[in-house]
Amino acid sequence: MNTTGFKGRDYLAETDFTPQEIRRILEVAEELKLQNDMGTYHDDKLRAKTLFMIFYNQSLRTRNSFECGMTQLGGHAHFLDPSKIYTPALEGKEVAYSTERVSDVARVLDRMGHAVAIRCYGDPVDWEYGGAHALLREFARWSDIPIINMECDIYHPCQGLADMLTVKENFGDFKGVNFTMSWAYSPSVHKPRAVPQSAILYATMMGMNVTLAHPKGMELDPKIISQCESYAENEGGSFRITNDFEDGFKGADVVYPKAWCPTVFFKPPVGNDSEEEAQAIVDQHKDWKTTSEHMEMCNQNALYLHCLPADRGHEVNNDVMDKTEGPGWRSAIFDEAENRLHAQKAIMSLIM
Ligand code: CP
Repeated sequence: MNTTGFKGRDYLAETDFTPQEIRRILEVAEELKLQNDMGTYHDDKLRAKTLFMIFYNQSLRTRNSFECGMTQLGGHAHFLDPSKIYTPALEGKEVAYSTERVSDVARVLDRMGHAVAIRCYGDPVDWEYGGAHALLREFARWSDIPIINMECDIYHPCQGLADMLTVKENFGDFKGVNFTMSWAYSPSVHKPRAVPQSAILYATMMGMNVTLAHPKGMELDPKIISQCESYAENEGGSFRITNDFEDGFKGADVVYPKAWCPTVFFKPPVGNDSEEEAQAIVDQHKDWKTTSEHMEMCNQNALYLHCLPADRGHEVNNDVMDKTEGPGWRSAIFDEAENRLHAQKAIMSLIM
């Protein structure tokens, strides 16, 4: 397996990699998962190496999968709480804690460790769409070691890779798989767009037949939509958008219904920064909740995916979330969560 060409690269967005490179990373993830299942240690891969992790937001899956992953690869993942360090901030941006320039933090950490992973979206950048991704790119500009995106306001590339691994291990390949990313209702409008945007990018990169379902007002970034259209054309799949919830389930092999915030919630020029207006739009669509009747509309052996945490009783009913075995459709949410570990181990072992 040719894995040259990865060392030293950042993992900030899936679009920084070719579809062929993403397929290679998935092959490495499958290999590492198999070794793990057989009890074969691979703690020589990143022995004595350190991953610094800066979390501006909460996490269960991301933090623990990176920490476990570094342990299994022989290194150490070091958790950095922005309230306990001098918080890296872009120049001119106010944050709640004492700050230090990104350029200085990046140049200190790269003298000690082997990669820096960062999660930042939403409140820390005041819901200014693209502000968090700019912070990560600034880190990467100053750092001599790779920067890994643990979810920003545009992309969640580690989650998306785990999603693709989950699809691949269930369907063997991506060709002909009907993949639906759908909006789902949640009472909270404070939900970033990174997961659905990464899901449709990866799914079109892998050549699946992709449907994006959402009510009017929940449009995703037009640049991402345009990239999906190009990937669909070049990689042999398809891409369409529907405003009908049930349409997204009919004939689907994989459904991924998840809440994200309306466009108006962001600051101008993307939105108009109106939480009340955003809430009013969201509240019109309480019926965008996945039930077992919706899952019955899918193809045989369909998968229900969710990155978690899910808003049980609003985005989805418990009986859908918890039907983790066949016959018929099933929920693959815990496989998907586990696959964060294997996907990220592949990324880290290749780029670090
Ligand atoms: N899916 C995901 O990123 O989970 P956490 O927010 O718990 O890290």
